[in-house]
Amino acid sequence: MHVDGNEVQDGNQRIPTVGLDHASAALSYRTNQLGFLYEMARLHGPVVELWPGTVLVTGPEEVHSVLKNTNRKFSKDRDLRLRKSKATPGSQKLTEWMSTRRTVIASMTVEMLDEHAVWLSKMTDELADQMLRRRCINDITATLERVTSMSIARFCFGSRDAAAIPRTAQAMLDALFPIFSSPYEFPPYLKLAQPREWRANRGIRKMHAEVLSAAKSSGEGGLVDVLYRSGLDDTAMADAMTAILLAAHSVPAAATAWALVELARNRDEQELARAAATEWRSSWAEPPALGWVVDETLRLWPPTWVSDRAVDEGGVCGSWRLPPRSRVVLPFWVIHRLAECYVEPATFNSRRWEHLSPPPGAYVPFGGGPRRCLGARFARAEIITMLAVLLQRLSFRVEGEGTLDARTTLSPKGFELLVSPR
Ligand code: HEM
Repeated sequence: MHVDGNEVQDGNQRIPTVGLDHASAALSYRTNQLGFLYEMARLHGPVVELWPGTVLVTGPEEVHSVLKNTNRKFSKDRDLRLRKSKATPGSQKLTEWMSTRRTVIASMTVEMLDEHAVWLSKMTDELADQMLRRRCINDITATLERVTSMSIARFCFGSRDAAAIPRTAQAMLDALFPIFSSPYEFPPYLKLAQPREWRANRGIRKMHAEVLSAAKSSGEGGLVDVLYRSGLDDTAMADAMTAILLAAHSVPAAATAWALVELARNRDEQELARAAATEWRSSWAEPPALGWVVDETLRLWPPTWVSDRAVDEGGVCGSWRLPPRSRVVLPFWVIHRLAECYVEPATFNSRRWEHLSPPPGAYVPFGGGPRRCLGARFARAEIITMLAVLLQRLSFRVEGEGTLDARTTLSPKGFELLVSPR
């Protein structure tokens, strides 16, 4: 590889750079992550180097190629605490995780999802009562989290006593927040000296202890039975459960919160969604028009708005060859707003999904390839159930200028959701 003016040449395609020095680019990123990445993609195209060793990839073909080749040419190289993951390509740990993933996905059967939808609709009904009593909800994601956190605990532990899990998971996410939301990458020796790291370690230990205690309590069913039957020992089971419980605690709540905000600010959309909600029958099967609301919400407001990969061995994506050991940034929020794939990309229009079939890599709210979100099916059924029950019971309006919080999970912020009976 050699540097030529402000362009880096490698293989057949030149990777442009953004033309800013490292400090200025990093500062612009820190000041406005979404805006900066969107602008860089708009100005420089599908692949651009943000600063040495960090490449922004937003072209659908290139995104698809990175996601598809994960675990081979690209790797997810960081764990929950953003430390170097032990599940590197070719390692025993990665083989075990891939097998656990298959087991979890296989456990999300139609029967399981149908049964869970009945339970979840009762919980959402109680939530609707609480929302009606409050009338004005300004912590929309946190309000919905009360249901999604219990929902994933039930999925994981069946009828066992998992009452302490939602609180412990929240404490763990709070402990991880400073690590996730920090724009700085500290070297390992500095990390060890940081109180935020100690808190995250304590959080993981507490979470593992709580998972094992719930698993050993009396009761039956849930993912825990499936994982033990598949041969996992206590440590591997607690690791897998921790990843799943944290991933499912608030992300589906944020997605549902965005859907409610969008429906509340658009009466026509709300009436169409309500008409579809009345067709819903406590099952995982979704009325198409409600499915389009979910598709559109996840396009415009993907709660997990960014992911990344490490380039292992000069990974090729599209017609580009990325420098080995560089990092690829995949901003799903930006990718979903590309004008070449979506008409009026910034507008919420659920009807576009009636005939829309985006090209591979252009619609990736759950990521893609071998490390695609393993809870996608469960999450979708969860969002549909919550929306259907809430729309059957309530009407929504929204007040407040409202904005977004992208420090970790992308969530609505500053909106007041006004709730009234239908
Ligand atoms: C609307 C809800 C959700 C969204 C938008 C979402 C999105 C994502 C995304 C974008 C990734 C990263 C994929 C990548 O880097 O290619 C991911 C990973 C993951 N998600 Fe979800 N997720 C949701 C709900 C859930 C739920 C309910 C669960 C558990 C049942 C879950 C479990 C996981 C796990 C364990 C991973 C890591 C997978 C791996 O690295 O192999 N997610 N999710």
